[in-house]
Parts: sequence; structure tokens; C-alpha cells
Amino acid sequence: MLVNMKKMLEDAKDRNYAVAHFNINNLEWTRFILETCEENESPVILGVSEGAIKYMGGYSVVSSLVYGLVKELNIKIPVALHLDHGSSVESCKKAIDAGFTSVMIDGSKYSLEENIAMTKEVLAYAHPKNVTVEAEIGAIGGEEDGVANEVLYATVEDAILLSETGIDFLAPALGSVHGLYKGEPHLNFDRMKQISEVTNLPLVLHGGTGIPDEQIRKAIDCGICKLNINTELQLAWANAVREFLNSDLKTYDPRKVIKSGEKAMKDAIKKKLELLGSIRKA
Ligand code: 13P
Repeated sequence: MLVNMKKMLEDAKDRNYAVAHFNINNLEWTRFILETCEENESPVILGVSEGAIKYMGGYSVVSSLVYGLVKELNIKIPVALHLDHGSSVESCKKAIDAGFTSVMIDGSKYSLEENIAMTKEVLAYAHPKNVTVEAEIGAIGGEEDGVANEVLYATVEDAILLSETGIDFLAPALGSVHGLYKGEPHLNFDRMKQISEVTNLPLVLHGGTGIPDEQIRKAIDCGICKLNINTELQLAWANAVREFLNSDLKTYDPRKVIKSGEKAMKDAIKKKLELLGSIRKA
């Protein structure tokens, strides 16, 4: 069932767990995630980057795919369809018009004033349509759709100013990185807790791949209600498919090739749900 993400994350905040945001890249990815979360009675957020939207053929294609699978697979758990790192007001509007239930407006590469102005514009369009809005402050490191970024820690002051726009969720960059970490992540947990307390918003942690389990648990205790995971599922799937193709030189049916990564991906999803504490919370 497609739902408004606000209720989902407020429940996570109240009951001290986090909901997984898994990025989707194609039909199979979406199906594997939905099936695993349904089996484990866990709410889930399907995140889609602009790059993945382009790859899949456009906003309406992604939306039809997700709504169609939820219906045909008889998915009962709460599911949110969320635009990940919307880079412009136009991109967020397109997602909303296509039926996404949530959007992220990422104005983090602009000045605070511009970030706030963009966020307000998206909020004015999204909220009357019952669509939730996530915004980012500071800068998450690593690569985002092929563009490299330096880590910039969010300040409490800026987080307060952005939260005053009326956003539903805040992603304060506090040392996390998209893709693989070089060494241990250095997350600023004190500031995370402080931002959670002063804004009282469900917080989002991007760059979920490679953060040690105990740091993820600590982040949940400091106010993280949504953990974004992408690279980890890509690695699990790609390693299994590579092994399958190396061991079987005769198979060429794309359905069999893609499916050979199903178990590894589903195992990785289940492990994450267990860690986040979202099993049987749907
Ligand atoms: P990873 O690819 O590091 O898991 O990060 C995903 C993410 O933050 C998407 O917004």
C-alpha cells in the first residue's frame, strides 16, 4: 500500500527504529525489495535517483512500475515512493505529478538562502497534494549520479533555519559518504542528537553502505529514522551474478541472469531490516 511517509517515520521516531530507504534501479530490484519487506512485515521506502529515473524511462514509468507491482504482488506493508536527491524544483514537481508520495529537494550545493527558497517552493507544491518533503543541509561526500562531493558537516544553526520552512524530514550531512568509505566513517553523533532535539524532526542518514552496525544503532538512538542504502545492494547483487555467469557459460536468458542475484540481494535486505529494527512494525 502506497502511503504518506510522515506517519511511517513518526512511528519509527516514537518506537526507536529506522525505516530502510532502498534505491531501485529496475523492475527486479523493486520486486525483490517489496517481496522481502512484505515477508518481514516491514515498512519500506523505495528511493529513486534522477539518474535511475532517466535509466528506467521517466517519472511516469517508475510510478506505474511501483504502483503496478504493489497491486499485482498484493503488497500490504506501508510503501513510500520517494524522489532521492531532487536537484531542482522542476524535478520534484515532475515526481509529484507522476504520483510519487515523497520528494527530497537537495539544495545543499547552493547557499543556505537559496536552499531555503527552493525548499519552500517545493513545500508549497507538495503539501497540498499530501506529498512529504525531505531537505538536506551540509554536504554528503562521495559520488552522486557520477558527481563527486566533499563532506561538509551541517551546523545546528543552519539545520534549525532549514527546519523552520516546515519540511517533514531533515538530512543533516554529518560525515557520511555515498558509495564506499575510505577507512571508518566519522559521524558526528553529538551534533546528530542535538539537531534531532532542537528540530524535533525525523532525521535521515544518507550513505548507509559501509557504516558499521554499531554506528547505525547509535545513529538510531540519536534520531535517525530513515537510512538510505544503495551501493550495498548493488554489490550483493553484482557479486552473485558475476559468480553465476562465471560458473555457467551456457545461460543467456536475461531473466535467469538477473534472478541469479535475487537470493544475495534478499539476504542483504533482510539483514538490514533486522539491524534497523523495522521487522513486524508494519
Ligand atoms: P550508499 O550508496 O552509500 O548506500 O548511499 C545511498 C544513499 O544515500 C542514497 O541517497
